[in-house]
Amino acid sequence: MSKVTVVGSGNVGATVAQYVAGKDLADVVLVDIIEGMPQGKALDLHEAAPLAGHDRKLWGSNNYADTRDSDIVVITAGIARKPGMSREDLLKTNAGIVQEVAKETAKHSPNAIFIVVTNPLDVMTYLTWQTTRLPTQRVMGMAGVLDSARFQTFIAMELNMSVKDVRAMVLGGHGDLMVPLPRYSTVNGVPITELLAADRVDALCKRTRDGGAEIVALLKAGSAFYAPGASVAEMVEAIIRDQNRLLPCAVYSQGQYGIKDLFVGLPAVLGREGVKRIVELKLTAEERAALAKSAESIRENINVMNQLLVAV
Ligand code: APR
Repeated sequence: MSKVTVVGSGNVGATVAQYVAGKDLADVVLVDIIEGMPQGKALDLHEAAPLAGHDRKLWGSNNYADTRDSDIVVITAGIARKPGMSREDLLKTNAGIVQEVAKETAKHSPNAIFIVVTNPLDVMTYLTWQTTRLPTQRVMGMAGVLDSARFQTFIAMELNMSVKDVRAMVLGGHGDLMVPLPRYSTVNGVPITELLAADRVDALCKRTRDGGAEIVALLKAGSAFYAPGASVAEMVEAIIRDQNRLLPCAVYSQGQYGIKDLFVGLPAVLGREGVKRIVELKLTAEERAALAKSAESIRENINVMNQLLVAV
């Protein structure tokens, strides 16, 4: 029996719970600072079990003791991006929240694998590791799966083909500097660069980069949660079922791709122990430079965050 704790029971957290239970992956504990809300959402999701066809249990709680011995902890607690707000604007508020959540959850589940969702993603993942001091293979951020899913969706729309045959790879930080890799994005093995004109590929890459902002602008209040929730569930499944999936995630790089001591989106093999290894792809000079630029921006934000945390 597996247990997944989701801290932050807002839009993303509740959607994670829905997919994780719905895919029959684990029992779920939803946690939030708002009293009654995680309990209400968990009960509502539990009552959907006979219809969704699973026997998973869901609880809500405001108490970290209820999260004890979780196999996976998902951190979505924080404030969501509002229109006009950059990911970096979120840094200060969310750092305080994530630090507290990481400390409390690690205390009760010292053997858990941590998946961070709170933005700015790569920096919050670093902070979770810095706070918990867990082995790096047990801390990762969810961004690449979502960014790649968006890219896949746009490719399928453009070609009017099934998303089932579309695979895509997006590396780098979860921000404007993310690095979609068209050469490694295919329709049933055929690189999209063989199927689409260069300007259309560029347009799809741009829409992917702006994917989060596009949803924010439409929703007016809050940010995306269905695709983010499904992306987390994909990672949870890879870990719980020890699938050895090759998924782009924010993982700790120790020199791979010329990047050191940072969490950044790279292709990683996910299984029961968490990040089993990082796969190094051959990149063009341009792709490598874009990844380096993205990594540098994450490093700058980590420095800003650490200064803010010292100042508190
Ligand atoms: N402990 C527990 N929960 C907290 C804390 C805390 N210290 N601080 C805030 N929360 C909860 C809020 O009460 C809220 O219910 O986190 C939840 C966040 O939910 P939403 O506001 O609905 O935000 P959501 O859309 O789910 O996004 C969460 O994921 O994608 C990212 O950018 C997004 O950082 C944001 C996060």
